[in-house]
Amino acid sequence: MDEKNTIGHEGKLPWALLPTDYYWYLTHATTTKDASKRVALILGRLTFEDVIKFDKKYLSKWHLIVITKQLSEIFYNTYADYDRNHIDVVNSFDQAAHKAKQLLDTPSSMIESVFVFGGVRPYEQALESKLVQRIYLTRIFAEVPQCDTRVSNFDLSDFRRIKRSSDEILAELDDKIFEENGWKYQFQVYEQKDL
Ligand SMILES: NC(=O)c1ccc[n+]([C@@H]2O[C@H](COP(=O)([O-])OP(=O)(O)OC[C@H]3O[C@@H](n4cnc5c(N)ncnc54)[C@H](OP(=O)(O)O)[C@@H]3O)[C@@H](O)[C@H]2O)c1
Repeated sequence: MDEKNTIGHEGKLPWALLPTDYYWYLTHATTTKDASKRVALILGRLTFEDVIKFDKKYLSKWHLIVITKQLSEIFYNTYADYDRNHIDVVNSFDQAAHKAKQLLDTPSSMIESVFVFGGVRPYEQALESKLVQRIYLTRIFAEVPQCDTRVSNFDLSDFRRIKRSSDEILAELDDKIFEENGWKYQFQVYEQKDL
């Protein structure tokens, strides 16, 4: 996010590729303690289209819970090339959260953790739901001049910033200021205060 909580423009990220950011968020979102398990991602249909285009090689690490108003059979026909055993289609964030909980609670579950991966409504509704335990935020120190995709209610009052937790994957990168491809940014991790 930039300083005004912008996350996208014209279907893309509004900044150039930030190699360390790409490495940081993909490592968090693909690492499981048990190598046989997957991370579930909750994501809107447009973000799903980005994932199958740009992050295809990580699909074997993920179980995707895609939010769309489309009928699931139409969705599955459109994306028939993808393994539907690892894609659930739901119509709302609440259904996505319910599905994620069901997957986590199944005995011998193949899912180890759940990430909300965007876009705007999934991020906003996840925060409103109070279900979020941790936020991995890449804060871009700029206001992008053009944007059409911005989170309007990014309220962190229920969260506290964690400083370099020792059990954190890639903890050594947290808090440093990076400058790559003309963009200055920092990784910030927040945890729900009640945890
Ligand atoms: N910086 C970041 O962290 C980040 C992360 C993700 C994406 N992005 C960027 O953000 C943009 C995409 O995000 P976006 O917000 O425009 O789209 P999005 O949430 O990925 O997808 C929007 C679509 O998802 C479905 N949807 C999402 N939330 C829904 C809800 N609560 N209820 C029902 N349907 C829902 C609808 O699909 P149907 O039209 O099929 O009904 C809607 O048209 C791109 O520019 C992408 O590059 C940035």
